[in-house]
Amino acid sequence: MGLKIAVIGGGSVYTPELVEGFLAYVDELPVEELCLMDINRERLEIVGGLAERMVRANGDPFRITRTLCRAEALEGADFVVAQIRVGGMAARALDEGIPPRFGVVGQETTGPGGFAKALRTIPVMLELARDMEKLCPNTFLINFTNPSGVVTEALLRYSQVKVLGLCNVPIGLKHLIAHWLRVDPREIELDYVGLNHLSWVCGVRCAGEDVFPQVLARALEEARQGRFPFSPELLETMQMIPSSYLRYYYHPDEVLAEQKAAGHTRAEEVQAIDAELLKIYSDPLLAQKPAFLEKRGGAHYSTAAVALISAVYNDKGEVHIVNVRNQGAVPDLPEHVVVEVPARVDHQGARPLPCRPLPPAIRGLIQAVKAYEELTVEAAVTGDERLALQALLVHPLVPSFAVAQRLWEALKEAHRPYLPQFFRAP
Ligand code: G6P
Repeated sequence: MGLKIAVIGGGSVYTPELVEGFLAYVDELPVEELCLMDINRERLEIVGGLAERMVRANGDPFRITRTLCRAEALEGADFVVAQIRVGGMAARALDEGIPPRFGVVGQETTGPGGFAKALRTIPVMLELARDMEKLCPNTFLINFTNPSGVVTEALLRYSQVKVLGLCNVPIGLKHLIAHWLRVDPREIELDYVGLNHLSWVCGVRCAGEDVFPQVLARALEEARQGRFPFSPELLETMQMIPSSYLRYYYHPDEVLAEQKAAGHTRAEEVQAIDAELLKIYSDPLLAQKPAFLEKRGGAHYSTAAVALISAVYNDKGEVHIVNVRNQGAVPDLPEHVVVEVPARVDHQGARPLPCRPLPPAIRGLIQAVKAYEELTVEAAVTGDERLALQALLVHPLVPSFAVAQRLWEALKEAHRPYLPQFFRAP
């Protein structure tokens, strides 16, 4: 019997990338049905139409179905992929636009923007989890929904669903480093540690050999040429390779100045890109993923998802970098929290590989952001304003309690329709 894959948020412009991924894996993943579920009928039609043409052009190895009904998508699903955006791009524009008014970086997954996104998203993802508990309790949920690590932590804490949290940052770094070394990405192993969008590469092995000195030297060279988001001095000081989201922590003033100078948010840019993409997707002659999708930031995301699903389905025992419950892998963090680390993936899911104790240069930041994440999950679930304020207060990008208070009031009001947990009648 072939597999049914359900994609929640299947109307996303990223879906053709996912279709391409499943088409590339037909030899090892016997997909029979790729079911696209979305709440937006128009997007579902446009994106679903392109998905169907892509599959047809490749000899119809599986069928595409579309539905507006989540239960219908989940019924009989062997894997579920979640890629939703609660409140759409309009809400993202607020997440990115409000913090700079208070002198704080505006970003959709990091800092107060990511906090607001988590508060909107966690309750909806928990509804999905409740449906999965009823309709497909043994099915793995591959979560891409941002902020991916925080959402994964909420699901693991407050549901019984088997969740693997995924992001394209680890695979992106792996591909970049492999490109530097001129080897196949499958030949290298990364010592990678941290949280989602807060991670570092601390070592690289190629065919068992330590190649980190070469990698670091190349990163320094790239930085000197202005082709890396960090200064050579920072890399020299850290002796590790930070993932790009660390720029918000290491250079917040620069980022804030850039954001103010731009005069618009990334969400506004993305709105224009998406409108163009949907126009391109509507062409009945188009039967492949257009290159224009590269304007969005999700490169390699389907490779990460499909390779992970294959590792589970085929019981491969491969190492993938995923968001998973810590279970002692990072000794400096609680057992139950979610970390983004290499994990062995097989039929049973992902088991994180033991990491060395965190170097002091990154330990404090990881612990502080993890505390913020734990508080954010609790605030999202309980609707307790005190916890929401505590979350903002401990976030390293929020400079004071006064700013935390003002940010909270502004974000709460701006997102009121999506934050019912904070507006219950007393
Ligand atoms: C990176 C991140 C993703 C994020 C994306 C944003 O790939 O890892 O988590 O969704 O960037 O790209 P966008 O085109 O939406 O700005």
